[in-house]
Amino acid sequence: MPRAHSAPVVAHLVREQANAVQLYLRYKGYHWNVAGPLFRELHLLFDEHARTVFETIDVLAERQRMLGAAVPYTLEELRAASTLPAEGTLPGTTREMLARLLASHRVIIEGMHAAFKAADTEGDPGTADLFARFVQAHQKMEWFLRELASEPPVVADEPGRSAYVAEKSGYATPIGAAHGSPSFPSHPLPS
Ligand SMILES: [Fe+2]
Repeated sequence: MPRAHSAPVVAHLVREQANAVQLYLRYKGYHWNVAGPLFRELHLLFDEHARTVFETIDVLAERQRMLGAAVPYTLEELRAASTLPAEGTLPGTTREMLARLLASHRVIIEGMHAAFKAADTEGDPGTADLFARFVQAHQKMEWFLRELASEPPVVADEPGRSAYVAEKSGYATPIGAAHGSPSFPSHPLPS
């Protein structure tokens, strides 16, 4: 059992609990509202990531109890503790959805690096291990989103392949076309 109530470590746990709640809701919102040719892939991926994020919430909260702290649970408390950018309005394109999710994961990954260091400094290997595991989950989700949002690779040595990849990836602009990077399909959501 770690020593009771380390304020810096608990603050990291509260922040990441709040960020996880906000990111879970963001994922579910996009899961429900996504539209367009990539609908099936993104609809399913967003729900899969939502489940992964959801499972972290309880662990982050209960760790606070193990350290002797009371756990915040109201929407007001959690919104105040979150460091993710506010959602504002629904993204108008799938590209914007991916951009906001990527930004969210990057804030969390950075926060968890700091949290790991704080727990390690406090001599709290249990909390350090928790953040070491969760940061890997966020890095994996960030990787999947980054690949989805990335431009297709240029395959200069294989004539015909670039057109094939462009067709399969759903990118309208053939790879290797002069100038103008291929754009991610952008589909306005129904108003
Ligand atoms: Fe669903």
